[in-house]
Amino acid sequence: MTSHFKNHVGGAWQDALSGETFENRNPARQSDVVGHFPLSGQDDIDAAAEAARKAFQTWSRMPAPQRGEILRRIGDVLTARKDELAFEMTREMGKPHFETKGDVQEAIDTAYYAASETRRLFGKTVPSELPFKFNMSIRRPIGVVGVITAWNFPVAVPTWKIFPAIASGNTVVFKPSEEAPYSGELLVSALLDAGLPPGVVNLIQGDGRVGAAMVAHKGIDAISFTGSSDTGSKIGEVCGRTHKRFSAEMGGKNPIIVLQDADLDLVMEGVVWGAFGTTGQRCTATSRLIVHRDVQDELVGRIIEKAKTLKLGYGNDAGTDVGPLINTQAVDKVTSYIEIGQNEGATLALGGRRATGKGLDDGFFFEPTVFTGVTRDMRIAREEIFGPVLSVITIDSYEEAIEVANDVPYGLSSAIYTRDVAIAFRALHDIEAGITYVNGPTIGAEAHMPFGGVKATGNGHREGGWEVFDFYTETKTCYIDYSGKLQRAQIDNEQI
Ligand code: UN1
Repeated sequence: MTSHFKNHVGGAWQDALSGETFENRNPARQSDVVGHFPLSGQDDIDAAAEAARKAFQTWSRMPAPQRGEILRRIGDVLTARKDELAFEMTREMGKPHFETKGDVQEAIDTAYYAASETRRLFGKTVPSELPFKFNMSIRRPIGVVGVITAWNFPVAVPTWKIFPAIASGNTVVFKPSEEAPYSGELLVSALLDAGLPPGVVNLIQGDGRVGAAMVAHKGIDAISFTGSSDTGSKIGEVCGRTHKRFSAEMGGKNPIIVLQDADLDLVMEGVVWGAFGTTGQRCTATSRLIVHRDVQDELVGRIIEKAKTLKLGYGNDAGTDVGPLINTQAVDKVTSYIEIGQNEGATLALGGRRATGKGLDDGFFFEPTVFTGVTRDMRIAREEIFGPVLSVITIDSYEEAIEVANDVPYGLSSAIYTRDVAIAFRALHDIEAGITYVNGPTIGAEAHMPFGGVKATGNGHREGGWEVFDFYTETKTCYIDYSGKLQRAQIDNEQI
């Protein structure tokens, strides 16, 4: 017996209006069916957008700190359910239980942070150029926000969007990835159990077609999206035509730069975690190691030695370090890049194959892979693979490292390992990326800091931290003239 799950629209759990469903399976154990979920269509989006619009009338008028109180309770519910949620997330998308617990913790941090921001949501007051006149800006919510997310952070990333959106007074239509629908359902259930009023967050399950219908929908005022740069471009075109506010978090090709003076054991640990944690399926994953010639052989040797000890397996089994890829298409994609790398002349120094053996044959496991002898023009040095594949590029100077680091279409995360504080500070300015770590790997952003990328990774907005509230609010400029007479700006101040 497999479970059947529903959409959540305007306070009611319901099937897709067409009655159609899709199936989701455990990527570590394909025989394990997680459940059947509504394959939603236009009608479902219509209903969800309408419910969200209706809820907006009251939700947007509630004093922000009261909305914050609900967010605080959401944080409490997620805290109480952390373990149980993490178990189901691991079952659904594969990363080990200690990582899915971290994913839930990121959501908890985001909830408490957003709750606290409801007591700030600052506007500004500035002097008027005229006497007896008061100038200020205040924030207003936008309306209905469409949230479209990927499966690799199935709880944390939706909350990066949903929590600041609702803290600011917006209401939401949320479409989880079709690879992580159950995590989406569990998240929405937690919100409702914490007392979120009906219609404030509506859950619509389905595939890319329902995402496209959301983007085009006239009743949805803004879109926040995490996913591939290709899909992001398509969404951006529609949002541009329809004057819809749009925040995009897309691909990465994140480098770790290692200079001669780095602590090589620290680097080894950082690279192994950054490249093979989450099976390399993070937009922040370390996929390029840009290393100084003098320390390259020593470092790569240590990385390979450590990577060989990583235990692949089902993430809910104790001792598992690395879970599977998400699906068969991901295995095909990563496999194709192994061939591409070899044809381009890189040396396969570790891995490169689908992992098989006891406990692995029923899942999409892939060996941690290291390519050496990679040059910056190769596709494996430039394109996002989204798997456990590290490309090692040799450099001879800091200047060359920066050139190589910046020579890709993406710019999300980056890192430099050095003991030279002057070089570290130079790198903060020189690397073209939204995030730079010094002496730490490219993954592990904290919920209360701005998150986002430059170039093909983003479109200028940031998630997380204080900056995300600029995306979810409109600025209203207010002038209050208490002089009792007509005062003409730019004209009457001549006489003052
Ligand atoms: C993502 O892969 O989409 O910084 C987000 C990190 C995590 C978030 C990754 N906190 O690696």
